[in-house]
Amino acid sequence: MPEHSVPARLADRTTLRLGGPAAALVTAATEDEIIAAVDALDAAGTPLLVLGGGSNLVVADEGFDGTVVALGVPDRDAVTVTEESGPDDHHVEVTVAAGVVWDDLVARAVAEGWVGVEALSGIPGTVGATPIQNVGAYGQEVAQTVRRVRVWDRRLRGVRTFDAADCAFGYRTSRFKRDRFDAAGGRHVVLSVTFGFARGELSAPVAYAELARSLGVEVGASAPLAEVRAAVLGLRRGKGMVLDAADHDTWSAGSFFTNPVVDPALVPEGAPAYPQPDGTVKTSAAWLIDHAGYAKGYPGDGGTVSLSTKHTLALTNRGGAATSELLALAREIRDGVLERYGIELENEPVTLGCQL
Ligand code: EPU
Repeated sequence: MPEHSVPARLADRTTLRLGGPAAALVTAATEDEIIAAVDALDAAGTPLLVLGGGSNLVVADEGFDGTVVALGVPDRDAVTVTEESGPDDHHVEVTVAAGVVWDDLVARAVAEGWVGVEALSGIPGTVGATPIQNVGAYGQEVAQTVRRVRVWDRRLRGVRTFDAADCAFGYRTSRFKRDRFDAAGGRHVVLSVTFGFARGELSAPVAYAELARSLGVEVGASAPLAEVRAAVLGLRRGKGMVLDAADHDTWSAGSFFTNPVVDPALVPEGAPAYPQPDGTVKTSAAWLIDHAGYAKGYPGDGGTVSLSTKHTLALTNRGGAATSELLALAREIRDGVLERYGIELENEPVTLGCQL
């Protein structure tokens, strides 16, 4: 049975270290526990939040008048591996419980010679969260290796399995992000994710120029898996994107805004521009923020929040901050970029009980 406990300060469970209390908290590790907890709460009409690593979440100071279902890692069957041999290649199919820590899976993949997530090293949070926003970094995204996602559908009250083609993956989005159950939560609770990895010692072709430079290879070339992991961790550390309790630059939710995808005419001279298949262009939110006058370290009123001193796209808690202060800084930046460039930034993290 799930373990029940007293009300929890969500600030203790988010990487921003912000957020008031939840009315109640339940820990669920196995599929049966997650389903039992979610279905009982839905039957009672109690709002719920399924919480993994808390690394992409902004919670209101008022907290959450509902129950947090905190994912634990099951002891057994957390990761199951099936080898697949074809005439010319060798693959592995790996099914991972939602509560497994994402970077533990990446570290294992690199050690085992499973190719396809090495560039996603050092990302905080749990495996179950990764298909929801199609986690991506350094030229990879989970949509490239996810084969199936097993969920609890809160509306149909049953377990469903979505093939990758039915997940509607896009840049930082999927059907799991779009399909809502209510204001607090999504319709689908991810139970496990099945990945298909090629076996090998070399990485997938390196698709991010900054990573290729740091590895000393051309874009499109490969490098040993462990070297790619080390290089990505180094780049992420340099940007304050690897959690470190002693470093306030990492008291963040990662990128606070998504990179805007806009009409080419809107992209300012000199800004990064990545043409999309449909004729639009993805540009850099960090660049827009920087050039609109918000440099690294730019402080909010009161000085308890600021842009990261290592990257303009991360909003950080310098200690003792309130969510209201973080949101005020976020609004100032969004409004400043809109005024300067006519581009409206959208927040990337999930908000609970508050909005920009
Ligand atoms: N830049 C600035 N100022 C800065 C930092 C960056 O002007 O302080 C400009 C530079 O021109 C730089 C460009 O922004 O070349 C892009 O920066 P970066 O390579 O760090 O990537 P990003 O677009 O800011 C995205 C993801 C990150 C991911 C990195 C690496 C989004 C919203 N963010 O950031 O993901 O780690 O690429 O692939 O797509 C996250 O989603 O939480 C996250 C950290």
